[in-house]
Amino acid sequence: MISFKNKLVLITGASSGIGKAITLQLAKEGAKILIAGKNEDNLHIVKNECLKHTSFCESICFDLLNPSEVSAAASEILSKYGPIYLLINNGGISQRSLAIETPIEIDRKIMEIDFFSYVILTKAFIPSMIEQKEGYIAATSSLSGKFGFHLRSSYSAAKHAIQGYFETLRMELKEYGISVTVAYPGSINTSISINAIEKDGKPHGIMDPAQSNGMSAEECAKHYIKAIKKGRAEVLIGGKEIIMFHLRRFFPKLFFKIIGKIKST
Ligand SMILES: NC(=O)c1ccc[n+]([C@@H]2O[C@H](COP(=O)([O-])OP(=O)(O)OC[C@H]3O[C@@H](n4cnc5c(N)ncnc54)[C@H](OP(=O)(O)O)[C@@H]3O)[C@@H](O)[C@H]2O)c1
Repeated sequence: MISFKNKLVLITGASSGIGKAITLQLAKEGAKILIAGKNEDNLHIVKNECLKHTSFCESICFDLLNPSEVSAAASEILSKYGPIYLLINNGGISQRSLAIETPIEIDRKIMEIDFFSYVILTKAFIPSMIEQKEGYIAATSSLSGKFGFHLRSSYSAAKHAIQGYFETLRMELKEYGISVTVAYPGSINTSISINAIEKDGKPHGIMDPAQSNGMSAEECAKHYIKAIKKGRAEVLIGGKEIIMFHLRRFFPKLFFKIIGKIKST
């Protein structure tokens, strides 16, 4: 089992929800923490909370939508703090709009934040991990990264892309002592549906019942960190909704019958 004591970790999307919960649990394990997000005030709250448990926590504010900001942030981190041990690509936004009504600019925005920012950050940190002969990369996909779901066409596409990219990376980086885990959360009780964007790019603003009745972010973080510690390729995290993954895999006809009848929110 990997220990994170005194290891430098970078978590994106750390200002709320799953990322915040992961951050606080890793802080309690004595990791040195770098947190990233877009909302500076929320990052400061998390940083202060973090410093109650660990001696080192710094926040970096940048927009995952902007590739040059993401690259610049990675360069700044490397020059200020040196190589990181663990990168958790977790920041993201969801979607609530029909594919046919969604302008391509919104599709691209979702892909940029939920997929390309992960690729940019990861590529920036791999060379120093190779040099150190150790390192760990994690990426947050979704149950929607295992099958399509109403109103989430580009979100689901971005989350599927994470699986393809990071599974490949796992194979390619093994010889350098670098491991990769992809997490597939189901319904987790965070603000993801409130922050999800609609066809006009505006926030959905509604807490979906699936989220409010979902697993807590803290419980999700516990499973996520455990999977990293064990070096697992993937981890599905959630409650009874995870059965849909198994249905899709083993009983696809039944899956499509059921999923077609689910009332989408
Ligand atoms: N909750 C679920 O049911 C669920 C299920 C499957 C997968 N996931 C995935 O889990 C990850 C975390 O989501 P969450 O549930 O914790 O939701 P959340 O509470 O809305 O957190 C999203 C995080 O992503 C950051 N973020 C969003 N857009 C950003 C941008 N353009 N630039 C920088 N940071 C940005 C947010 O930062 P700011 O607030 O600072 O902007 C926030 O820290 C996401 O990748 C999501 O797709 C969640």
